[in-house]
Amino acid sequence: MAQLWGGRFTKKTDQMVYEFNASIEFDKRLLKQDIQGSKAHVTMLAKQGILTEEERDTIIAGLCSIREDVENGSLIIDMTYEDVHSFVEANLIDRIGDAGKKLHTGRSRNDQVALDMRLYTRERVIAVDAALKALLETILKTMEENIHTYMPGFTHLQKAQPITLAHHYGAYFEMFKRDRQRMKDIYERMNYCPLGAGALAGTTYPLDREYTSELLGFYGPTLNSMDSVADRDYLIEFLAALSTVMMHLSRFSEEIIIWNSNEYQFVEIDDAFSTGSSIMPQKKNPDIAELVRGKTGRVYGALMSLLTTMKGIPLAYNKDMQEDKEVAFDAMDTALNCIVLFTGMLETLKFRKDRMAASAMNGFTNATDAADYLVGKGVPFRDAHGIIGRLVLYCIDKNTSIDALSLEELKAISDKFEEDIYDAVSLKTCVEKRLTIGAPGPDAMGKVIAVEKEYLQNTKNGLSQESLQQ
Ligand code: ARG
Repeated sequence: MAQLWGGRFTKKTDQMVYEFNASIEFDKRLLKQDIQGSKAHVTMLAKQGILTEEERDTIIAGLCSIREDVENGSLIIDMTYEDVHSFVEANLIDRIGDAGKKLHTGRSRNDQVALDMRLYTRERVIAVDAALKALLETILKTMEENIHTYMPGFTHLQKAQPITLAHHYGAYFEMFKRDRQRMKDIYERMNYCPLGAGALAGTTYPLDREYTSELLGFYGPTLNSMDSVADRDYLIEFLAALSTVMMHLSRFSEEIIIWNSNEYQFVEIDDAFSTGSSIMPQKKNPDIAELVRGKTGRVYGALMSLLTTMKGIPLAYNKDMQEDKEVAFDAMDTALNCIVLFTGMLETLKFRKDRMAASAMNGFTNATDAADYLVGKGVPFRDAHGIIGRLVLYCIDKNTSIDALSLEELKAISDKFEEDIYDAVSLKTCVEKRLTIGAPGPDAMGKVIAVEKEYLQNTKNGLSQESLQQ
């Protein structure tokens, strides 16, 4: 047992209580942020004359050596410490003696952990934004190459109207672009520094909170010390945004699984991103897509868990809040891995364009266009809809398609049909005439692709990286 307190206690902590209370097993991943925050804190304390410059330098050297030793494996974070904060402070005192005991001047573990978690989350927000950017680049590349790759568009998973692969991918481009915008919003709102809030009511030391905030790359200090130690909104927002990312990835995964099925065969997943069966030698399974779809649940779970943890706790800090870490870390790891793996799978995905086009040609995806053709010949739309409905029924009975009927057969249903019907209901016309903004027609698609290219160019540096350099 190694803890930062004990003076007012007359008994040793019960071992089970100690273990139940300890967080080192999971908050050890905050070591880098803990040291980064401590360095900024002592730098500020020295500037304010609360520590001497010599003390500051000794403490900073000690902190850096702890980080280095943990990184090179010569110092192991052992589980006898209560948490990462105790581990760092105890090791610092071991290494530099009395100066180390001054590290915690004007600080509480409450504002310390609030800072560590915020620094860590901020890094993850930046990393998710970068991963989403790489995903968008992959999607845009496929869009550019497939403006003329026809495929059926679905509603109710029934063939509806023909579209292109570029158009289908374009839908996901918009989703992940909004996900990136959510990352930016979260970053903007969370980028304020809680350090200096103390346990809950600030401190009586003349801390310069503006200065620590600046040293740590924040926009400024948080404005209420109670809120500073009690706020986990930013983490909830991040988990909500990650849940949305996962929901998008999961839908896309579901489509890849369908497209990869024996019945569809629209795509072939690369061998490197598929797995086999232990019993059925012919199998090549879309496990990555299935796992991404499956892992969505645990990210939603993290969001629900933290929302529930936070909903009933009075101000300010309560130990319940320690429960923010395991679920949030797991969700961050999961979502980031899923984005990266999914991007790799898309990069290597092969399209069976012949099968996609053939599928777009059957299933009466041109029925709306056939009705629109009659409208062009002066038939009111509702009547045209009825005529084409009867035509479809006739085709189903004869096991054929609208474009394969003879002009006589067509005229038997409506005398408005002329030779130009065949061009009007061809796959090419059905797609290329759809030219409103956001539609699959190649000209409309080309304009959208140009806008998205510019967007990627304008956001190529992602969110601010400055704060990560320390
Ligand atoms: N391990 C704690 C957490 O994650 C650190 C803060 C402890 N503060 C306290 N007053 N016990 O929340």
